[in-house]
Amino acid sequence: MDLSLEIRPFTPSDQTGVVQLWGQVFPNDPPWNDPAELIRRKLSVQPELFFVAHGSGRILGTVLAGFDGVRGWIYHLAVQPEARRRGIASGLMSAAEEALRAAHMFPAASISSPPLG
Ligand SMILES: CC(C)(COP(=O)(O)OP(=O)(O)OC[C@H]1O[C@@H](n2cnc3c(N)ncnc32)[C@H](O)[C@@H]1OP(=O)(O)O)[C@@H](O)C(=O)NCCC(=O)NCCS
Repeated sequence: MDLSLEIRPFTPSDQTGVVQLWGQVFPNDPPWNDPAELIRRKLSVQPELFFVAHGSGRILGTVLAGFDGVRGWIYHLAVQPEARRRGIASGLMSAAEEALRAAHMFPAASISSPPLG
């Protein structure tokens, strides 16, 4: 993994970078996944399960996790195209899984909307 990379929970100052990233990586997302609205909703439910990868002064990746009482779920795992295959998604997944386990939630499933890019 890139040593300058920081994986940490989302903070409000990450909003612009995350919106830009999702617009680029998920250009065909349906209207109910509008990035700003999705962030607003995620911050109202288990906000501690929203991680970003930050490096070179910008947002390089994201992952949203959630727990429905039975399983942990992963959404919006996304990495900037030029930053891929450097282990950023793996790091984001580890952070999400660790947070789920720490809260005795069980990470088990993930969903994928677009194909791997
Ligand atoms: C999927 C995605 C998040 C991977 O990000 P990444 O930072 O490049 O992933 P990593 O470098 O951590 O790769 C980890 C492993 O995943 C697998 N992988 C990653 N990209 C892959 C691809 N395009 N095809 C096949 N396997 C892939 C590989 O096993 C890889 O390990 P390796 O590089 O040692 O072979 C990124 O390609 C992306 O944002 N794609 C578009 C959005 C998407 O499809 N998200 C998932 C559904 S929400």
